Amino acid sequence: MADNITRLAVFCSGTGSNFRALHEAIHERELPAEIVLCVSNRPQCGAFEFAEEKGVETLHLSERQFGSFEEFEEAMLRALKARGIGLVLLAGYMRKVPDAVVAAYADRILNVHPALLPKFGGEGMYGIRVHTAVIAAGESESGATVHLVNKEYDKGRILLQRTVPVLPGDTPESLAGRVLACEHLLYPDALEQLLAGEP
Ligand code: GAR
Repeated sequence: MADNITRLAVFCSGTGSNFRALHEAIHERELPAEIVLCVSNRPQCGAFEFAEEKGVETLHLSERQFGSFEEFEEAMLRALKARGIGLVLLAGYMRKVPDAVVAAYADRILNVHPALLPKFGGEGMYGIRVHTAVIAAGESESGATVHLVNKEYDKGRILLQRTVPVLPGDTPESLAGRVLACEHLLYPDALEQLLAGEP
């Protein structure tokens, strides 16, 4: 294991298109990082299919596999430490990261959110619900945010944001597609910035 290569774990719950974008960008931009683990709360998901294709280890971790929440968070922490994970990237992970993991990885967990935080964030604001709320509020722009994860939903320090327009006639689905394309560039940019030691 080269000292200057940051070992990354990507946490996903679904399609994993942000995972793909990050994986591609790490190779294309020759970033000093490697995705060595994909964690998901769902045993069957697009993210795991992609991980298997690329030879990235997959790990299904769900509270239901354990007798208590404490055992679940300890198992998650052990899995990250055992693999020498330096940074965790949440990429469409629809669960709250346990507090013990957030504490152990302070300022080393990133999340991508499909709106311009602090607006349209918090518990229950995820996926298509975010875009439905943005349109219902009559916003003229939305966008994507990459932020550090702390113990409160979507409240950690913002690293990067980029806007996209909300167009007349947009549906939550059409807006989601525009925002997702923005995320695919923004998340690698934020990772690159963090690896370069920029604030
Ligand atoms: C992305 O839009 C991501 O921002 C969002 O889920 C989608 C996952 O897509 N995440 C959240 O809403 C978390 N609060 P992907 O699986 O194709 O990367």
